[in-house]
Amino acid sequence: MSAQRADGTGLFIGGQRESGQDVRTGNVTASLAVANIVKSSLGPVGLDKMLVDDIGDVLITNDGATILAQLEVEHPAARVLVDLAQLQDSEVGDGTTSVVIVASELLRRGNDMVISGIHPTSVIAGYRLALKEAVSYLKREMVMKVSELDDEHLINAAKTSMSSKIIGKESDFFAKMAVNAVKSVKMKSSSPMVASQPVQVEAKGGEEKEVESSDTATTKVDSGSSKDSTVASKSNSMSQSSSNSNNTNASSKVVPSSANASNPRYKYPLSAIHILKAHGKSSTESHFIPNGFAVNAMRASQGMPTAIEGTPDNPTVKIAMLDMNLQRHRMAMGVQVIVKDPAEIENIKKREMDITKERIGKIITAGARVVLTTKGVDDLCMKYFVEAGVLCARRCAKDDLKRLAKATGGKIVVTMADMDGNETFDPECLGTSESVSEERIGDGEMLYVTGCGGSGASTIVLRGANEYMLDEMDRALHDSLCVVKRMLESTTFVIGGGAVEAALSVHLEKYAETLNTREQLSISEFADALLVIPKTLAVNAAKDSSELVAKLRAAHAKNQKGEDDSLKHIGLNLTEGTIRDNLLAGVVEPAISKIKSLRFATEAAITILRIDDRITLAKGQQ
Ligand SMILES: Nc1ncnc2c1ncn2[C@@H]1O[C@H](COP(=O)(O)OP(=O)(O)OP(=O)(O)O)[C@@H](O)[C@H]1O
Ligand SMILES: [Mg+2]
Repeated sequence: MSAQRADGTGLFIGGQRESGQDVRTGNVTASLAVANIVKSSLGPVGLDKMLVDDIGDVLITNDGATILAQLEVEHPAARVLVDLAQLQDSEVGDGTTSVVIVASELLRRGNDMVISGIHPTSVIAGYRLALKEAVSYLKREMVMKVSELDDEHLINAAKTSMSSKIIGKESDFFAKMAVNAVKSVKMKSSSPMVASQPVQVEAKGGEEKEVESSDTATTKVDSGSSKDSTVASKSNSMSQSSSNSNNTNASSKVVPSSANASNPRYKYPLSAIHILKAHGKSSTESHFIPNGFAVNAMRASQGMPTAIEGTPDNPTVKIAMLDMNLQRHRMAMGVQVIVKDPAEIENIKKREMDITKERIGKIITAGARVVLTTKGVDDLCMKYFVEAGVLCARRCAKDDLKRLAKATGGKIVVTMADMDGNETFDPECLGTSESVSEERIGDGEMLYVTGCGGSGASTIVLRGANEYMLDEMDRALHDSLCVVKRMLESTTFVIGGGAVEAALSVHLEKYAETLNTREQLSISEFADALLVIPKTLAVNAAKDSSELVAKLRAAHAKNQKGEDDSLKHIGLNLTEGTIRDNLLAGVVEPAISKIKSLRFATEAAITILRIDDRITLAKGQQ
């Protein structure tokens, strides 16, 4: 509808205006369309999507955030859901499909309630109340806290997260790799209170009072580093990426804050895990290099040694990392030298070579046995390196060197000139390792740096048949690494396979009955909306969703009546189409993933439900 000047009111809105129920229904329809796209990819038997862009590049994925990021979504309300998936991805790393599905279900039900005459404000108030109660119940009753998290829990969580992905078939292999990789980058958190402050939950008759270290504050600290998560160069047969994420934490129940002093917090910076992708061989030939770093580069000359090991008297191999050209010294532009005797020219040339030799000599005498540079190395310099038995590689990616510098405890040198105008090379800038060797991987060579002496870094070399597969393996592994990190940092987890959703749904239904306010209906709709996860899981597994979900709810209702405590962990068994104890089956997820996805989904649904007017301004309007 185009808005015109309403005579007498003086009001003029140029452009299109849609209001009331029209806009709400429009928004909800668009959001549902987005959610329907990812719906079929949820769960261990979910399917993948193939996305082809305008230049014909193909991407095959199961990851909700990746699918949505590729879509060109124009509708502003639908964009909210796309952003929601990205938010979940950067904050938690996993659960991006679930969060979008839950949000869209909340929206659909919210809209239906508004159509049937309930004021949006009541719907929103009910949703907020339901969320608060759900989170409080989840923390109180559903969270499993283990004092000593053993590998089995971590491996199970990693397996659950990768069960729906391309590496799901080899989840035993990759889950162990993910756990080892995250554990290998463990470091003491310098500011324990920021890294993870305990969540205190005071439950008083259904009222929750929450004192929580602001999740958003922690996120801000780290979100900068999470942006470079997948740096993949498609032109190379080997491309590299770093999986990383922020350091937000989950905590549950009451943990006295004084515990921090005696029990130091650890963090697991995923940026220190370097993921390299190399074509060829099967996925199970992927390997993990603990405390090692692989650089996608090769020796500059065949005359250089292929491996440099520490010797008994000098066990460390020192590495110089440069961000400059190593080339024959030339006189500056514009310098004119008039020579009368042709022999002098030879002398000038000799001197130029000597200057170069001295410069290289300074790097070598500082102790460097490996020299890596982001720029070029000319033949003359190479000759000196070959003579000294130094392994030198040129044109290394700068990001790689930056991370190698961190891993080996060195620094990148940009210039050799010092304050006095002389050229020196500070031995402090050298990184240390146990060995550096060139290995043939796939179609090219890589330099493996093992036993890094710096702050710890590990490398995972992924092998796979083609680029699509490698990219998808990288994304799946990223999800699992995030999950393991969350588990390690919070030592809390919940049961997966629809168990949490069913239990919350049963509890919220009961909770709604205890209220005599207008939010009651909205809370009970919220309860039903959560069931969309087990329902979708069952539908995707080609099972009877109504029957399975009914069984699941019945089990949790029985448990909550206090009749059978063992039913608490009941979730779906999607291969058999039955219900089972998912704790025993090892289907577990980090608690933070569920809590955050509930919060984000509700907030997104509320954001869209609040809108009752959409004005598209005509061009030229402010
Ligand atoms: N073996 C299993 N049995 C039953 N349910 C499972 C199993 N493995 C995973 N699930 C469930 O599958 C859901 C996760 O599916 P999936 O990984 O496809 O989506 P997501 O984590 O929401 O999104 P994404 O991984 O794309 O970011 C969770 O609800 C989890 O409990
Ligand atoms: Mg997942």
